[in-house]
Amino acid sequence: MKYRSMKKLGLKPSAFGLGCMRFNGDASGDSTIDEQKAIALIRHAVDGGVNYLDTAYTYLNKTSEIVVGKALRDGYREKVTIATKMPLGAVKDRSSMEAVLAEQLRKLQTDHIDFYLMHGLDRKEWEAFKAIGAPEFFEDMKREGKIRFKCFSFHGPYEDFEYILNDYDWDMVQIQYNFMDVDNQAGTRGLKLAGEKGIPVVIMEGLLGGRLSGAPENVQALYDAFPVKRSPVEWAFRWLCNHPEVSVVLSGCNEKEQIDDNLRIFDTVQAGVMDADELRLMENVQKAYHDRTKIGCTGCKYCMPCPNEVNIAGIFSAWNNISLYCLDPAEDWGLKRIKENNNGANMCIGCGACEAACPQQLPIIEQLRNAWSELK
Ligand SMILES: NC(=O)c1ccc[n+]([C@@H]2O[C@H](COP(=O)([O-])OP(=O)(O)OC[C@H]3O[C@@H](n4cnc5c(N)ncnc54)[C@H](OP(=O)(O)O)[C@@H]3O)[C@@H](O)[C@H]2O)c1
Repeated sequence: MKYRSMKKLGLKPSAFGLGCMRFNGDASGDSTIDEQKAIALIRHAVDGGVNYLDTAYTYLNKTSEIVVGKALRDGYREKVTIATKMPLGAVKDRSSMEAVLAEQLRKLQTDHIDFYLMHGLDRKEWEAFKAIGAPEFFEDMKREGKIRFKCFSFHGPYEDFEYILNDYDWDMVQIQYNFMDVDNQAGTRGLKLAGEKGIPVVIMEGLLGGRLSGAPENVQALYDAFPVKRSPVEWAFRWLCNHPEVSVVLSGCNEKEQIDDNLRIFDTVQAGVMDADELRLMENVQKAYHDRTKIGCTGCKYCMPCPNEVNIAGIFSAWNNISLYCLDPAEDWGLKRIKENNNGANMCIGCGACEAACPQQLPIIEQLRNAWSELK
């Protein structure tokens, strides 16, 4: 295992951090967590050198923290740092913040949380939380030793990220990042900004929730043609660890084989590990993915609301994602929701209001029909 540096915090986290959001249900198909399996996975990762665990109040129907707490008995707690998250929807004032943190400490069977993150913070929420005293709460909890570092995780647009990052003395930030998200959410700009400010960055969705663990034919052909053979997972993690600003890459594993594979990969990667040929390969891989785009919709939503409530941007986004990552349309939750809410392209009456508003001048009506014939 390679260890990185969180210079500002005086820590050396493992490059691979275990995400505790994706442990499977048991063999009966029940959605509850298979506790024994999850505990064994966590301990296996720690025995292999992982010293960073990421969980949250809400994960796995609020059971993830409980399982992490159980896994960290028998001397494992001392071997790791724990990151967990404040559920923003469940707290409304100082006393509920205190009550939730107390509950989390109980569930995690510990007297302190190392990294305490505001979960999925956006700018509006940050303003609201400042107004109810979140910064003072963080400082007080730090002083009392209940948390060590004040942090946030983020999924919004770059402008919000920049604002929140510059607005408070954060100890760490967690962002979604991978070679397909360089211009999405915080993106490369956000990563660099945090790096310039000396704020450690933890990466989530490094494999886009598993979507980059395989490769479509045109991408696989590029990997196959490269003289050194590596799996798509290894290329994705290698690309991330090549960035000096990255402190930890989280990966949510639900099989021992995946943990073993990741332990092997994260033993070989460090900042600056990729040469010019490898970087060129990854640029070509990005392009090959983008070549699979069905429609150049940017999701600006100028076309919406549709008078007949067709979710135009949602349909095009699902169409592109399904094509890019070879997904099964039946498994795409966004598309599922569109169908359940009856916002599908079958509702289009061809009035053309959307086409008149589209800054890209896309032939929306015709493309909605094309999309729906593949997605329905
Ligand atoms: N704060 C937030 O808002 C937020 C949001 C998302 C995630 N997170 C955190 O970040 C963690 C990481 O995100 P993520 O779970 O989405 O990570 P990810 O690495 O993008 O995706 C995890 C999935 O990748 C696949 N995988 C992992 N290692 C593999 C390997 N060696 N070979 C083949 N497949 C492999 C597995 O997919 P299969 O299950 O398909 O096998 C696994 O479930 C989460 O667990 C969670 O703790 C936080």
